[in-house]
Formats: sequence, C-alpha cells, structure tokens
Amino acid sequence: MRISIIGSGYVGLVSGACFSELGNKVICLDNNAKKISELKKGIIPIYEPGLAEMIKRNVRRKRLSFTSNIKEAIIKSEVIFIAVGTPSMENGEADLTGIENVARNIALNMDSYRLIVEKSTVPVETGNWVRRTISTYIKRKVEFDVASNPEFLKEGQAISDFMHPDRIVIGVESKRAADILVDLYKPLKAPMVVADIKSAELIKHASNAFLATKISFINALSRICDRVGADIKEVSKGMGLDKRIGAGFLQAGIGYGGSCFPKDVDAFIKISEKIGYDFRLLKVVKNINEEQRDFFLKKIRDVLWIVKDKSIGVLGLSFKPNTDDIRQAPSIGIIKALQAEGAKIRAYDPEAMQKAKELLTGVTLCKNPYEVCKGSECLLIVTEWKEFQEMDLCRIKKMLKRHLIIDGRNIFDPQKLRKMGFTYIGIGRPDSE
Ligand code: UGA
Repeated sequence: MRISIIGSGYVGLVSGACFSELGNKVICLDNNAKKISELKKGIIPIYEPGLAEMIKRNVRRKRLSFTSNIKEAIIKSEVIFIAVGTPSMENGEADLTGIENVARNIALNMDSYRLIVEKSTVPVETGNWVRRTISTYIKRKVEFDVASNPEFLKEGQAISDFMHPDRIVIGVESKRAADILVDLYKPLKAPMVVADIKSAELIKHASNAFLATKISFINALSRICDRVGADIKEVSKGMGLDKRIGAGFLQAGIGYGGSCFPKDVDAFIKISEKIGYDFRLLKVVKNINEEQRDFFLKKIRDVLWIVKDKSIGVLGLSFKPNTDDIRQAPSIGIIKALQAEGAKIRAYDPEAMQKAKELLTGVTLCKNPYEVCKGSECLLIVTEWKEFQEMDLCRIKKMLKRHLIIDGRNIFDPQKLRKMGFTYIGIGRPDSE
C-alpha cells in the first residue's frame, strides 16, 4: 500500500518504519525541515532500540522516504495516518491544533479517494471533527473515509510492540475503510477489534488511564507496606498471579512519567468534564502519582536531615529505561526540588545525557555510575536501567562518602545490600523507613 504518515515523532516514525518493513511504500512527513533533512541523512532524532537499522534498511530498499512537503505526501498516498502531537494545554485539555491543520491540508490537496486515519491519541469525537473539517474545506468532489487506529507502543519496546501487538484497534464507519486497514495489518496476525470510531478513540484513552490507575494503586499500596513493614514486591507478585489482575504495571516506584500517561490522564479528566461526567477516580490517580515523588523526597530528607550543601548522586534521568526521553520524567522534578533545597547533584544516564543537558542547570553530569558516587552522601536510583542492576556494588561502596542507597525503583535486594554494609531504603520494602 502507499502510505503517508503525517508527523514523524515517536509514533509516526516507528509506525512508518514498521509499515515499510512489512512491504508498504511509506512517506514520513514532518513540518520540522531540520528533522527531515537529518532523517534523509540517516540521523534518527530519537533513541529507540532497532529503529535506526530498520529505517536505514527500508530507505535502501526504497520503501521509506521523508519529506516536509505535505502536498506531495497527500497526493502520493491512498492511506494517510495522522500522527502529530496532541500536547496538553494549560488546563489539561489536549491541543488539537495540529490535527485540524493536517485535516485542512488533506482537504485542500486530495485529488481522489483517501482514507484518513487518526493514530495520535485523541479525545473521543475527534474523528467527527476531522470528517467535518475535511468536508468543509474539500476542493474537489472526491470520496474519503476517516478512521481511528490508536497505537499502543511503549517507548523502548516500540518496534516489538508494533510488530507483535496484543491487539489492533480499528475504528471505522465504512466497509471500504475496514477492508483497507484489516488488509494492511493482516501480516501481523494479531487479534483485531473493528469498532465504530468513537469506541476506538475511547479504547486508547481508557487503556492508558487504566494502566495509570494500576500504577497509582500499587504506589498507594507501597505507602501501606512502608507503614506496616510488608514488602510491596511480594504483594505485587501475589496479586499479579491472579489472571484477572495480571502482573503488568504493578511495579511501585516514584510515579509514572513520560509523554503519554500524565497527558492522557489529564485529557481524559477534561473530556469527561466537558461531556458532563466528573471522572473522580482519575483525579485521585493523578494526585497519588504526584504524591509519590514527594514521598521519595521525604525519604531522602528523613535520612539526610539537612540536604543543603550535600552532594547527592542520581542514577537515571530518562522517564524509564531504554529511551532517551525525559519528558515528564520524575528525575527532573526530583532533581529540581533537591537543588532548590541547596543540594549538589551528580547524575548519569546511559542515553538521556544530551537531552538532560538542555533541561537541567547546575547538575554535574558524569561518565558512569561510579563517578556519580564520588564524594556523594547518598545514591538515588531514579530509573531502572539494566546497567544499574549490574553495577559493581563493592566499587560503588568504595566511592560513596556514606553507604546509603535510596532506591526509587526497587531494583535491589534489600537484604543483600544491607549484608554488604549499605543502608538501603526502597519504596514499600521492609524496614525501609
Ligand atoms: C504508554 C503505554 O504503555 C503504551 O501502551 C501507549 O501506547 C503509550 O503510553 C502511548 O500512549 O503512546 P510509554 O509512556 O512509552 O507507553 O511507557 P510505559 O512503559 O507505559 O511507562 C509509563 C510510565 O509508567 C513510566 O514512567 C514507567 O516508569 C511507569 N511505570 C510503568 C511504573 O511506574 N510502574 C509500572 O509497573 C509500569
């Protein structure tokens, strides 16, 4: 199939690369001309395992190309995916300016049948607005369909999530659109849910909100574990083995971050409000998430007493492992709060150093975890990179001024660390307060 992907961010780029890998002819578009010229030179703007190789391979096979000319992308493709950003506005609502712009451009340039597919995460009813916008601005009398096909990929595992999805969700209003999308996804051999557009839109927001709820639930439980001396890891394991609950997204920590959950929870609260439903549950999910960072900061203060002028080591800056993404990363808020109290921060991340440099000031960025420990009063684990789980703890101990580890991701075995002579504080682990 000839496909265009409008918006070469995370979702757009990964989807474009994967569709081309499946044998389709794909054009990825972005209005950021610098990004496109770099992509043409093989410079990939994000770190995602396997993505650079896949892009290069398909460019070589002439199945994948890049442009910033929207007219060209629309004319050359039968299926147009909209994967532009839908950032949060001040009030939490999703900003759909980008979607409207693309819809208008499609209307102005379409010369024969097109299937326009929303892939960006959007509030329910956006599909209706896209259809109305195209109908309003359309120049020639041509047929078109609008569809919703939300993406469920996780950063760091995006390619494998795309190629081996749990399900594919397709929201359509015509058989023609359904046939095209079912055909496109057939090679993935995954279960498909073919629904109406509004239901498909809701599936995406509901899935992210439900996963965020699971995380806030387990984080709330970690507070109880801390108080009674139970182990949240055992509690998660015991709960997760129940198939009705499932083991995923039950890791307690310092709260969810990233470019999706915080934004989507906010947007879902807002859209519910707009249609007259007060989604109280989600408001609490959001509050618990915000409190979890304060809970971690309190642990630091409780053990260090005075934070001012102390050197604190931070391991992990990205919002989760295997990505260089620091958008809404808990690390940023935690570092800024400690700096505001006068702490000196030394930090390291395997991939996010460049992006952190642009966002953080006054942080000593180190070459490896051991350098972070040099002279530090304590070591904070903020992202659960594998590299940190495999560190030489004897060397870490030698470098630290005080043998104190505060593990915001519960990556270590408390008993093992205590036996080695560390003071170990986790989240919801026995004797961790
Ligand atoms: C999330 C969803 O998992 C994807 O299905 C969805 O497609 C994507 O948002 C999106 O809407 O585009 P992502 O934000 O990449 O993906 O990352 P996740 O792996 O879901 O992690 C989100 C946050 O939750 C991270 O900060 C992570 O540390 C935290 N988390 C996750 C926990 O604190 N505990 C857990 O058990 C799991």
